Amino acid sequence: MKIEDYLSSLPNSIISGEDVELSDETLREIFRFVKLAKNDIFYHLGCGKGNSITIALEEFMVKKAIGIDNNSEKISHGQELLQKKHITNGSFRHQDITIADISDASVILFWFSDEKIIENMISRFQNLKPGCKIITIWGPLTGYMPDKIDFPYILNVVPFKKAESLRDQMLAIFNTDCIDFAVAWEFADRYSKAIGSKNVENDRFLTILQTLVIWINAKNLGIACGDEIPDPVKSYIGILKTFFNIEVEHLLDH
Ligand SMILES: C[S@@+](CC[C@H](N)C(=O)[O-])C[C@H]1O[C@@H](n2cnc3c(N)ncnc32)[C@H](O)[C@@H]1O
Repeated sequence: MKIEDYLSSLPNSIISGEDVELSDETLREIFRFVKLAKNDIFYHLGCGKGNSITIALEEFMVKKAIGIDNNSEKISHGQELLQKKHITNGSFRHQDITIADISDASVILFWFSDEKIIENMISRFQNLKPGCKIITIWGPLTGYMPDKIDFPYILNVVPFKKAESLRDQMLAIFNTDCIDFAVAWEFADRYSKAIGSKNVENDRFLTILQTLVIWINAKNLGIACGDEIPDPVKSYIGILKTFFNIEVEHLLDH
């Protein structure tokens, strides 16, 4: 089966990201990466149950933290948490992020893969105060050069800097002249560690899939090292096909 068919056989809530929550440790890593501090007004767009809001307030002492999500149950959960902890400078809004007022933000966590939402939010982010930091995970804001990277965490600061090409953007993220198997594996592994299930076998499987996706995208963009398919890439393509019945080779432009 083609990888696209495999992905569409998985639960929709996982593929859409609706039910995916960042762990508390990953949130702390992100906050250290962006140097979240006491003068910040922090927003988490698509905040889910909202642990990010209490961590930002209690451990990073931000001035204000706001979580926005269009799922009312998750928002109620967050509001209860704030009440229980008697926190007054935090709040949760049951809203669509594409219309929410975020004008006073200094740091925004924005982990979305839906292209329409990303496009819509990029034009809104551009009107925010200069210096406002937008954190994304795995990919930068489409069309803009990242200002800081600790993969898979990526920072774009207002005003954004246009990327000349997807190629330039990708090379900046991977901080290299070309992408070989080892680079693809290292970055895929960092992603699995940040958002994976902490189940070694599942995370290894995710790393294999992501490594092949990174390498094949690099090859198609002309930024893989050399013309040949490296042996480990060939082996993993074979393992996926033989043992998991998942086919990725057709993703390669010939
Ligand atoms: C990790 S975010 C990312 C989900 C997103 N579908 C994606 O592209 O990956 C998941 C959270 O965002 C919330 N969410 C999804 N779309 C939203 C929207 N338009 N406005 C506010 N919250 C949204 C969901 O309720 C969920 O708690």
